[in-house]
Formats: sequence, structure tokens, C-alpha cells
Amino acid sequence: MTAPETRADARLYFANRPFVHGFYAVTRRLGPVVRVPGIGTIVNDAEVARAILATPAVFTSSGPGSFGILITEVLGPRALINMDGAAHRNLKQELAEVFSPRYVAAVAGAAAGPRLAALDAALRAGKSVDFAAFMRDYGCAMACELIGLRLDPADEAAAFADIFHLATEIMAFAGTAPRRLSLAQSSAAKALAARLATHIAAGYARADAPPQSLTARLRDQGAAFETVRDMVTVVLVGAVELIVYGLPRALAVIIDSGSLPALQADPARLDAAIDEALRLTTPSNAILRSVAADHAIGRHRFRRGERVIIAFRNILRDPALFPGGDGFDMTRTNPLRRLVFGAGPHACLGAALTLAEMRQVLGVVAALPSPLAIGARARNRGKLYPGYTRLDVRMIE
Ligand code: HEM
Repeated sequence: MTAPETRADARLYFANRPFVHGFYAVTRRLGPVVRVPGIGTIVNDAEVARAILATPAVFTSSGPGSFGILITEVLGPRALINMDGAAHRNLKQELAEVFSPRYVAAVAGAAAGPRLAALDAALRAGKSVDFAAFMRDYGCAMACELIGLRLDPADEAAAFADIFHLATEIMAFAGTAPRRLSLAQSSAAKALAARLATHIAAGYARADAPPQSLTARLRDQGAAFETVRDMVTVVLVGAVELIVYGLPRALAVIIDSGSLPALQADPARLDAAIDEALRLTTPSNAILRSVAADHAIGRHRFRRGERVIIAFRNILRDPALFPGGDGFDMTRTNPLRRLVFGAGPHACLGAALTLAEMRQVLGVVAALPSPLAIGARARNRGKLYPGYTRLDVRMIE
């Protein structure tokens, strides 16, 4: 029988895009590498996926059929995730210096304090809290702190709502992984990106941006706004959407699986619970590559011009690696712990920050004296990543 946490998470996929959910569910049964005419080659095997991600000269992030080509169309060619080779390596190196552990700690510390205290107080008082709404505020605040966008308190709520709307609407165009956007889609996405860029430009122009922040550091290095805008947009979108949709899903699987009392009894298990929640929910469920030259990995042959879809959602539920893998089990050992953040040169730049934010927010829940029950939930539709738009939680007396 399917575990309750998996049933609840599957309903998110059905609400979001029923076809995509069905596609993963069917292709995962068909083998490690599955060719689907008109769509691409689905990779359901961890070793093949790692080999692909470690060979970026063959499996590119900018060729036909990749996610990068859509980003290039909307944002331009220097957005990091759509770059390959030396140019990508150099930009990533510069950014890795900015995303130092000290910086991540500073960001995680700055915007969170009063928000976490308010969450803790409301839950301890027995109030019902919409955790999805909490995450929209917290996630946007952290993302703005990260890129250096200081807002006046009076403008904050409206700016966060606008940033969240723009970030999720832009990414929604990539939801069915089209090979190209139509003219209408392309101009609509460009208009949204231009609006998002006005928020970033405001941060770039302000003298009081936190000196550690991404834009302040880039500006101090002499980078003109136009040269960093597209890459900062990608960082902002990742920091907003994956966090705001990812964390409520993580909390929901912990509660739905009945694991919260065990976590609260032993909060030292928080990191294990986070790893398991990321494995089961795979917030970024697949990534795309374009094959630049014929290539073989073991017995699997990839042909030039093909599109490859690395299905993290299937890989991280592979029954050979994760017995009972459709259920949440924070005692399991996960040999693919960080694969959910990708691997190779394009591995996620925000992994350390994501983990810091998860420890903060889920740490509040783990420290409560009683478990939480979930009340009303609502799910997004048509967005790139499935997620809750409402998730009411309340402490059980
Ligand atoms: C639940 C949270 C997150 C997950 C599961 C996730 C997952 C991923 C994955 C799988 C990739 C690899 C993409 C590829 O190889 O094509 C990636 C790349 C990236 N992520 Fe994340 N991410 C998360 C949060 C974040 C956050 C918070 C930020 C920003 C602070 C961020 C920024 C980026 C950037 C800039 C890249 C592109 C790196 C490159 O191309 O070199 N991500 N992410």
C-alpha cells in the first residue's frame, strides 16, 4: 500500500501537471535509460546520471533541447545555468567566493530572527499557521538579503508578493520542457524578466546594500549591472521558488509520515530528516541536457542532437538503492545524499543556503513540545515545481 506521505505528495503533482506526474510514474518502470520519441531520453539510473553530469563537453547545458536554451531566449547568454566550458567555470568560481560559508551564515542569520520567533510563538500558542504563506515571506526575505535588496518595511509585503509572482510565472514557461518557446510565450516571459530586473536594479543602485551581498560584491568588483543582471536573476528565482515550494513539501512529508514525534523526541535527527525529505520530494525533479556528440556510457548510447532528461524524482526512489523508497524513513542511509542538488560543474550554488534555511525553519518545528497536525491545504497549478499555496498547521494539544 502506498504510504500516506507519498499519496499526499503525488496529489501535488496531479494538481500541478497531471501529465508530468504520469510520465515519471510510467517511465520509472521501463528501465535505467528510456527513449521516449518526441520528448527525449529519460535517465533513471544514478550512475548514468553522474557520468552525464561529469561530462559537460558532451552533455551540454546550452544546446538544443536543454533548459539553458530557454533561459538564453528569455534572459540572455550569461545566466550561469545556460553556460558551458571555461566561461561557465570562471563565472562559477567568482560566485563560489561570494557564496562562502561566512556569507551563507550571514544571510541565514540576518533576515530570519524575528520571523522565526513569530512562527515559534504562534505555534506554541496553539494557533493555526499557514506554513506556505510563512515561507513566501521568509523565502523572499532571505532571497532579497542574499542578493542585497534592502526594502523599506512599508513596501516589503508588496515587493515580496511581486517577486514571488514574477519568479514563479517566468519559470512556469519551462514546465512542460518545450524545445522552444512560442513567440507569444517568449515575449511574455521577457516582459516578466524585465519587471524582475527592476527589483534587482533597485538593489544594485542602493548604497546601503549589505556589503556581503551578491550584488554589492559584484558591484565592488567593478561589474556593470547589465553584465550580471541575468545571472543574478537566475540566483533570485532559484532562491525564491525552490525554497518557497520545497520547504512546505518537506514539512508535509515529515508530518504525513507520522515521523514528527520521533524527530521532536530526538532533534539531533534533524539533518537526517532533511536529507530524507529532500530525497522523497526532489524539489527540482528533473534537469535537461543536450547531447553534442555521439557518446556511450556503459551499454547506453547517446546520439548527437538528443535531449536527455535526468529524472531525479525517479533516481531517488530507485528500489535497488532505497528499499521502500516511496516512504519517508529518516533512519535510512542515502548513498546519493546530495544528488538532489545536481552534480558536476553545474551543481547547485544554493545548496548550503538551502540546508541552512531548512535547519532554521524545520528546527523550530523539531523543538516544539508537541507534534503538528495539517489542516487545509491548497496546491499550485501549472508552475514549474509542484508546491503548496496553502498549508495550515497547528500544534496538537
Ligand atoms: C530545495 C532547494 C534547491 C534544489 C533542490 C536545487 C537544485 C538544483 C539543481 C539540481 C541544480 C543543477 C542544475 C543543472 O545541472 O542543470 C541547481 C543549480 C543551481 N541552483 Fe539550485 N536548488 C535549490 C536551491 C537553490 C537556491 C536557494 C539557490 C540560490 C541561492 C540556487 C541557485 C542555483 C544556481 C545559480 C544554479 C546553477 C548553477 C550552475 O549552473 O552552475 N538553488 N540547483
